[in-house]
Amino acid sequence: MYADVYKCVKTKENALILAIESSCDETAAAVVRGGREILSNEIMSSCSEHVRFGGVVPEIASRAHTTAISLVTKAALDKAGVTLKDLNAIAVTYGAGLLGALLVGVSYAKSLAYASDLPLVPVSHIRGHIAACYLNNPELEPPFISLLASGGHTAVLYVKSYTEFEIVGQTLDDAVGEAFDKVARVLNLEYPGGPNIERLAVSGKPSVELPKMFKGDKKNFNFTYSGLKTAVINYTHNCNQAGIPFDPADVACSFQRAALDVLVEKTVSAAKVKSVKTISAGGGVVANGYLRCELEKACKTRKIKLFLPPKPLCTDNAAMIGAEGYIQYMHGNFAALDLNAQASVEL
Ligand code: KG4
Ligand code: ZN
Repeated sequence: MYADVYKCVKTKENALILAIESSCDETAAAVVRGGREILSNEIMSSCSEHVRFGGVVPEIASRAHTTAISLVTKAALDKAGVTLKDLNAIAVTYGAGLLGALLVGVSYAKSLAYASDLPLVPVSHIRGHIAACYLNNPELEPPFISLLASGGHTAVLYVKSYTEFEIVGQTLDDAVGEAFDKVARVLNLEYPGGPNIERLAVSGKPSVELPKMFKGDKKNFNFTYSGLKTAVINYTHNCNQAGIPFDPADVACSFQRAALDVLVEKTVSAAKVKSVKTISAGGGVVANGYLRCELEKACKTRKIKLFLPPKPLCTDNAAMIGAEGYIQYMHGNFAALDLNAQASVEL
């Protein structure tokens, strides 16, 4: 069935791809043309159902996906003004993420591909975050340095080509988004923690002394967030024990700077080491206004071109899966109908 489609993929530059994403608490579907142009980008989130538990409950997320997936897909096709017959392929996130949640998207995409005789393109969620920067940016081409900062991953990557990456540095323990979510809990802020810490930090001062991690260590491109998180927990705990009042806004502001300044420093020095003049970024944490602003300042002084996806394309969405799906499609990377979901994937 697939063989005929495979033969002509290289010529299908304007391929229309339906992308499906269900790796965490967002059920999303998008139609993307030529890997860069978003025709539709629909999303339904079960986030509010997880708030009282302080984090995503996998079973609740999976059930929400099952009710949302066909609605979201239909909406994506309708908004794009296309039908299944117009598509070149269906791309789906197969990992990394919550297994039960991923399975909903993978099973749905497989059924659609089979029923409509379309090739199925397997997409890594991590690569999707990196590919988000291609959307609406026709001039962006590798090589460039990419900062990946999400709830599950933190890395600085040298993107050599559309399909080849080299890890320049990465976290040795927690991801930066994970640290935001954990610190938010300590400050009694709701899940997801990142946006709430950012809001609180606006009225705070960077007055709390926190570990600098590998900041200033020019030879080390790695990150570590576990000690920073523990330092915040210890600070608030010690203040509470000793009856010393503290301003949560100051803690949020100090933490945000400690967590993000090091990302900016390592990203721009990676560009120097790799002699590239272009930087991009992706992942939920890149929606953070302070990080975006600091990256812009650092790139401007070094005459580096910076490509940041708009905020809704930093957090989980299906358009980014369409962007990466297109790259995989053009390289002839297709999945058979025994494609399975994977909780973790290699970069
Ligand atoms: O990329 P994403 O939507 O999902 C993963 O693939 O993990 O990232 C979610 C993470 C969460 O940890 C969330 O707290 C964080 O991104 N995040 C932020 C902001 N918005 C989302 N962190 C800091 N500032 C934000 N504005
Ligand atoms: Zn993500």
